[in-house]
Amino acid sequence: MKISRRTLLKVAGLATGAALTEGTQAFVEPQNKSKNKKVALQVAHITDVHIRKGDEAPERFTKCLQHIIDNHKPDFFLNGGDSINDASYDSVIREQVIEQWALWDQCIKTIAKYEVFSCLGNHDMWWKAPAKTDAMYGKDYAVKRLKIPNRYYSFKKKNWHFIILDGNNSQISLDEEQFKWLQNELESLPARTPVLLMCHYPILGTTQVLVGGGHSDCKKLKDLFYKHKDKVRICLSGHNHLADHTSYNEVLYCCNGAMSGFWWGKGDAESAGKGYYLETPPGYALLKLYDDGSVENEYIPHSF
Ligand SMILES: [Fe+2]
Ligand SMILES: [Fe+2]
Repeated sequence: MKISRRTLLKVAGLATGAALTEGTQAFVEPQNKSKNKKVALQVAHITDVHIRKGDEAPERFTKCLQHIIDNHKPDFFLNGGDSINDASYDSVIREQVIEQWALWDQCIKTIAKYEVFSCLGNHDMWWKAPAKTDAMYGKDYAVKRLKIPNRYYSFKKKNWHFIILDGNNSQISLDEEQFKWLQNELESLPARTPVLLMCHYPILGTTQVLVGGGHSDCKKLKDLFYKHKDKVRICLSGHNHLADHTSYNEVLYCCNGAMSGFWWGKGDAESAGKGYYLETPPGYALLKLYDDGSVENEYIPHSF
C-alpha cells in the first residue's frame, strides 16, 4: 500500500509514533513546532567533571569553562554530577574529599557570574565517613558543596520548567518520596509547560545498553512522562561518559558524554582517540530551548 506524504503526516498528527501499515512508522520530532520560534534560553550542560589533581585536570577544566562562556554565552549552566573525581570508594579519607571539593570551588570560580544548577553523581558522596553524623557524610554534604537547595529540586526560567533528580537510590532509581514529588510537580504545572529534566544516570537511551548504568525504574518514569507528554521535552544525563540521542514518545533523552572524557586520562586500547571513552570524545553540550517548547541538544567535543 502506497501512502502519500500528506497522509503520513496527517496520520502521524493524530497518533504520533503509531505504526501505520506494512511496518511503516511515522514519528513527529518535537523540534520545528512553529516557523517563528525563538530561542528562549541557551544552556550549557557539563557532566562528569571528576575534578582531581594530576593530568592538569583543573587547568583543562578551567580552560574549557572559559571557552564555553567566550564562545556560547549561555544563560546558565547545568552540571550533571560526578563533579569530583571520587569520594565514594572505601579507601577515601577525609583529606582527599576536602582536596577535591577545594579544586571544584577553585575551577568553578571561572563561571562565578553564572548560575550553576547541579545534581548528585555517585562519586560525589563520602559514605565512609567515620559516622553518619559526620558533617561530611553522604548526600547532605555534597548538596552543601554544590550549593543546591536539596538532592532533588526544580526551578523556572522563562517559560521552561527544570527538574533536577537524584537517582542515587536503590538499584539506580527514584525513591518513593521523590517519585511522588515528581508526579505532583508534573501534575501541578499548567498544560503544555515545557519541562527539562536532568539526572546523573540515563533514563532511556543507547549508552546503558552498551555499558549499563541506567535507571532501573525507567519504565515507571517513561509511563509518567507519557502521561505528561504535553510537558516533558527532554531528559539529560551523564554517568556513562558516552554521548547519545534517543527519542521516544517525543521525549529526547541525551546522555551528554563527559567533560573529563576518559577520566582526564589518555584513553585505553578501545578508545577511538585521545581522551575518548569508547567512541565519545571529552565534551559538553549546548542546548537551545525554544519558546514553543522545542529543543536542540548538541554535544561539542573539546580538546583541552
Ligand atoms: Fe562519571
Ligand atoms: Fe557516575
